[in-house]
Amino acid sequence: MADFLIAPSILSADFARLGEEVDNVLAAGADVVHFDVMDNHYVPNLTVGPLVCEALRKHGVTAPIDVHLMVKPVDRLVVDFAAAGASYISFHPEASEHVDRTIALIREHGCRPGLVLNPATPLNYLDHTLGKLDLVLVMSVNPGFGGQAFIPESLEKVRAIRERITAAGLQTRVEVDGGIKVANIRDVATAGADMFVAGSAIFGSGDYAATIAAMRKELAAAAGGAAAA
Ligand code: DX5
Ligand code: ZN
Repeated sequence: MADFLIAPSILSADFARLGEEVDNVLAAGADVVHFDVMDNHYVPNLTVGPLVCEALRKHGVTAPIDVHLMVKPVDRLVVDFAAAGASYISFHPEASEHVDRTIALIREHGCRPGLVLNPATPLNYLDHTLGKLDLVLVMSVNPGFGGQAFIPESLEKVRAIRERITAAGLQTRVEVDGGIKVANIRDVATAGADMFVAGSAIFGSGDYAATIAAMRKELAAAAGGAAAA
């Protein structure tokens, strides 16, 4: 029975009321806070840094914070986000000169490392890294903005990554980020994902609890289908 994690992306939250928004979405049943960090260099958008992560911890957020670094270079911010209370730290391999070193740096600082694969990034980045990762984050949109449409080819990629993880006997999580909605989350789970980022689908809905409950219902159906198969 898969243990599915729902990770709302704060990118679509009301930043003027961020602490309250995060409290509300966690009270509504979310498991993890997905924290999108953009630098106007690796991606053409600019969001928030370690100060805001630390502010959420000071506000009283105890849930895991899943930091998705869309920045180049990466390493300096790993250290800052670890100190700011990050739980997971994921980065894009194209943005680091030394991918293995960055993974080790995340682990050394007490966080769980993840590698992020863009829609056109090949799986060979996992060849020598998979055993060192807690998370593979599959981008199902091109990074930089919330509210984009899910790229359907991502499902095949999720399947291939899950096969590799299973074949290697690992417990690595497969997280999918971009365009996830109640209508497609079941297919993403069936393909092998167990961690789901959703920004606009949750924060753009009037009722966070109802949307998360509807997602859980779809996930339970995916788990039931897998059990029956
Ligand atoms: C995109 C970000 C995503 C984004 C997802 O670069 O990494 O986390 O906020 O937003 P939705 O769910 O609206 O596609
Ligand atoms: Zn993200």
